[in-house]
Amino acid sequence: MIMNDFCDADKIWLDLDLVTMSNSAASSNLAASSDGCSQGYGCSQGYGVQKSMALAVKNGRISAIAPMIDMDKALFLKANIAGRGGWMTPGLIDCHSHLVFAGSRAQEFEQRLQGVPYEQIAREGGGILSTVRATRGASEQQLFDLAVPRLQALMSEGVATLEIKSGYGLTLKDELKMLRVARQLGEAFPVQVRTTLLGAHALPPEFVANSDAYIDLVCEQMIPAAAEQKLADAVDVFCEGIGFSPVQCERVFKAAKNYGLAIKGHTEQLSDLKGSQLAANYGALSVDHLEYLDAAALQPLVENGTVAVLLPGAFYFLRETKLPPIQALRNAGIPMAIATDFNPGTSPLASLRLMMNMACTLFRLTPEEALAGVTCHAAKALGLSDDSGRLVVGAPADMLLWDIKHPSELAYQIGVPALKQRIYQGETSYV
Ligand code: NIG
Ligand code: FE
Repeated sequence: MIMNDFCDADKIWLDLDLVTMSNSAASSNLAASSDGCSQGYGCSQGYGVQKSMALAVKNGRISAIAPMIDMDKALFLKANIAGRGGWMTPGLIDCHSHLVFAGSRAQEFEQRLQGVPYEQIAREGGGILSTVRATRGASEQQLFDLAVPRLQALMSEGVATLEIKSGYGLTLKDELKMLRVARQLGEAFPVQVRTTLLGAHALPPEFVANSDAYIDLVCEQMIPAAAEQKLADAVDVFCEGIGFSPVQCERVFKAAKNYGLAIKGHTEQLSDLKGSQLAANYGALSVDHLEYLDAAALQPLVENGTVAVLLPGAFYFLRETKLPPIQALRNAGIPMAIATDFNPGTSPLASLRLMMNMACTLFRLTPEEALAGVTCHAAKALGLSDDSGRLVVGAPADMLLWDIKHPSELAYQIGVPALKQRIYQGETSYV
């Protein structure tokens, strides 16, 4: 039966060590006996390692997985063998980015290095608002062109799915412009793009001293238009002293729900306003940043299956010292995802592999947790199907073939290319 699936396949890969990220009983059993522990690497069952395997793809999905030992050698003569040997992981998923913007914040970086706080720069009209000015002044084509090298950097190290937020337009026209560019990037390149409307990112100057009226605009115009034009998959907020209050964020969540859009939140990045719990109680897919999240108040996240998205690049770049409550999140069984948060102000770092490394060094995640954070847990943070971010039969055929000795290397050595093949929807592309 399985052999038939291999005969019918569009392509097959042979002699693979699979990092399935599958927590099914079958893969766990295999992992226990063969995930490299004998080589002295720390191990547990989360990688779901299956050694010496063959994998078949049909119609852009994984159609069969079987041990090499069960393979009929006669098949190899007629099959379309697309690759042989190496470690294979799911394609990487960057579940939080602000990839589309114009302008640079290098001068703000210099100011911050001289001791001026991020919040002070924002309150004085710099920060996010300086990127808003540049983004409003840029055409759709200019924004697209500026985003391309950033996207290529992410793809070149294995990103197959990427979330892109608006939030630097802050008018109806400019927010929709950003979302259209994000959609166009997904159409122009072999990468899946999920879009998020972040109208409630900062208060634009036109609404100073009238932030509720701006929230009216977000709820009554931006969300309906983005939903009707199918430009947004989700809605996000910046729940913070320099962003919007919990009461205002709740209005945005209600409007998003009314229009059938998923909910996400920038919460507890700089202070504890209980935005994470609020978002979770509205069924948020994820709450993101979380440095100031109260370790004793995680129940709403548990009850609603909300993913904790950790953004070590922003933690590092802002020289933050308060750590997210990692051990409490772990104890509560809350899935932790990791993302670049690529943006010009707090994380101008277009490397998801670097984020994996930082998640380990700065946040003390294990390399295995880091890989789950950019595969299956990131998929959950985007509301993708349960098999996304895993190598299992039926899953999207987004796979990476690596020249490494063990999957822990993915969080370990940064900057040296290790990707042999990037496979998106079954097609080898880009690298
Ligand atoms: O995720 N915290 C709010 N938004 C972004 C930063 C945006 C900016 O500074 O341009 C973040 O860190
Ligand atoms: Fe962000």
